[in-house]
Order: sequence, then C-alpha cells, then structure tokens
Amino acid sequence: MTRLLHVSSSPRGAASESLAIAGVFLDSYRQTHPDAEIDTFDLWDGSLPAFGPAAAGAKMAVFAGATPAGPQASAWQEAQGTFRRFAAADEYLFSVPMWNASVPYILKQFIDVVSQPGMVFGFDAERGYTGLLTGRKAAVVYTGAVWGADRGPAFGRDFQQPYFDDWLRWAGVTDITTIRFQPNLVTADAAAEREIVHTRARDAGKAF
Ligand SMILES: Cc1cc2nc3c(=O)[nH]c(=O)nc-3n(C[C@H](O)[C@H](O)[C@H](O)COP(=O)(O)O)c2cc1C
Repeated sequence: MTRLLHVSSSPRGAASESLAIAGVFLDSYRQTHPDAEIDTFDLWDGSLPAFGPAAAGAKMAVFAGATPAGPQASAWQEAQGTFRRFAAADEYLFSVPMWNASVPYILKQFIDVVSQPGMVFGFDAERGYTGLLTGRKAAVVYTGAVWGADRGPAFGRDFQQPYFDDWLRWAGVTDITTIRFQPNLVTADAAAEREIVHTRARDAGKAF
C-alpha cells in the first residue's frame, strides 16, 4: 500500500494558503489513489523534538563511530522516532510558506532532526554524501506574499525553494512536483491567481 505523508509547516490553519492548496491536492489525490494511506505531520503540533546540545552531541558521536550515551542517547532516540515516521512514507507532500526569504524555522528544525547519518544520508570521506531516501517522490507547495520571480530585489530574495529543493535532492528525493502561489499583495489579482494554482494542485494531485 502506498503511504503519503503531508508535512505541514504553516501554523495559520484556516487562513493558510499553502494548507488550502495542499487540501485541494489531497482531495483529488484521494480520488485517484483510493487505497493510499494518508498521514499528516503538522510540525506545529508539539511532537517535533528539539535539536539542541544533547542531539547535536549525539549526531557528532554517531558521525565519529561512537554510540550516544546518557542525555545524548535519549535525544538520538527521539530523532530516530521522527525519522521512522518520515521514512515510512513512499510519497511526500510538503506545504512550505516563505518566512523571511526562507522556510519557517519549524521546518528547518524538522530537517535538522531527521537529517542524520545512516537515516537521511550516508557519508564517505572520499565520495561525500549519498541520499538514502531514494525511490520516493515529493510534491511541494511554496507560498509567499511579497517576493516573486518577476519582482526586483526590493521585494526580497528566494532562499525558500532553492534551500528546500536542494535538501530534498541531497536526501535522495529527485522526483519533485512544484506548486507555487506567490501573489504580490499590492499589485496582483490574488483571487485569479489562486484559482489557477488550485487547478494546478487538483491536476497534480490526480496525476501524482
Ligand atoms: C513570519 C512571516 C514571515 C514572512 N516572510 C515573507 C517573506 O520574506 N517573503 C514573502 O514573500 N512573504 C513572506 N511572508 C508572507 C507569507 O509567505 C505568506 O503569507 C504565505 O501565504 C504564508 O503561507 P501560509 O498562508 O500557508 O501560511 C511572511 C509571513 C510570515 C508569517
């Protein structure tokens, strides 16, 4: 059975553009994939572990070939638990708002928790990194309200898609469907653009 995990990083609930687009994607995905199991990981639900001193210490210990002990062992187990939930999926849907030109910090926290040696990546001193999440595909919904590819530098820069897309590819997920909704609050006709993007999300969910 196919398992799709929706990793949601907007805290804005009913006001969220990315969650609305993800909802449209999932509604049409369900119709063409009636047997798929769909899980949602709301990164704001309080279950994502911190990645602080103990976890960072554990990571460096594992990298050096040692076994984490004491508080590091507990932090490592929490990271492993989050990774297991993530890796149990064959397909991903990410909703990713632009926050200060990049991704919300909770998504970066998620990336820092799961991106571990032997989990998301392998490492060889000569060959470098190898992504271990191969054979999976992802759809990513990017939203923003100021930055746009058609706007000048006064509207900010895009470290959102380049960063997140690179992380996915680094992790081994190279089959990526991108859906963007980035109207300019001042000049664009957001309603018309929203309709176009929702149609795109419907089509993408169906074909995913
Ligand atoms: C903390 C915060 C920072 C934001 N920073 C940017 C930004 O740098 N560039 C931009 O285009 N929009 C920015 N926005 C606007 C959001 O990207 C926009 O409202 C988008 O729809 C958020 O996704 P959501 O509706 O799914 O929550 C920011 C919004 C918030 C709450």
